[in-house]
Amino acid sequence: MKDRRKFLKNAGSTALFTSLGTSFFIACDEKEENIDPDNNNVSENGFTLNGNVYSIELNHPNFSVLKSSGGWYLFSEGGMLLVNVGQDVIRAFSNKCPHADCRTSWKYSNNNFTCTCHTSIFTNDGALVSGPANSDLTSYLAQKEDDILTVTT
Ligand code: FES
Repeated sequence: MKDRRKFLKNAGSTALFTSLGTSFFIACDEKEENIDPDNNNVSENGFTLNGNVYSIELNHPNFSVLKSSGGWYLFSEGGMLLVNVGQDVIRAFSNKCPHADCRTSWKYSNNNFTCTCHTSIFTNDGALVSGPANSDLTSYLAQKEDDILTVTT
């Protein structure tokens, strides 16, 4: 991703426009507008949303905890729980508890999420351990590339 940004800056818009065509040029320009150039290429809140796809910048202070194994974050703006389960893997789940829809009362310890509204427990792959909930967390597709996490909800 950083290499692509460097390439775009070095190549110049005119060269891209003439060599790659109008649609590619416009798509790249829209993506770059979401990034704050005065903040080391990190957007203000650390994420951008395009349709149902979040691009999360792991170097942003809001999300940097996710760079370490065991780090987790209740990403309320995105309606999700994020957790680094080790080996460079980050998982994403809806933060809506399947018991009674609590979204904000989560804690994480011993590789388990606990919804403290009524103490339902889930593993870090979203599987139900104990209720009163009777189903797993909803999983989202999460892909990490360099320091960008892409989550499709
Ligand atoms: S809403 Fe989560 S345990 Fe009841």
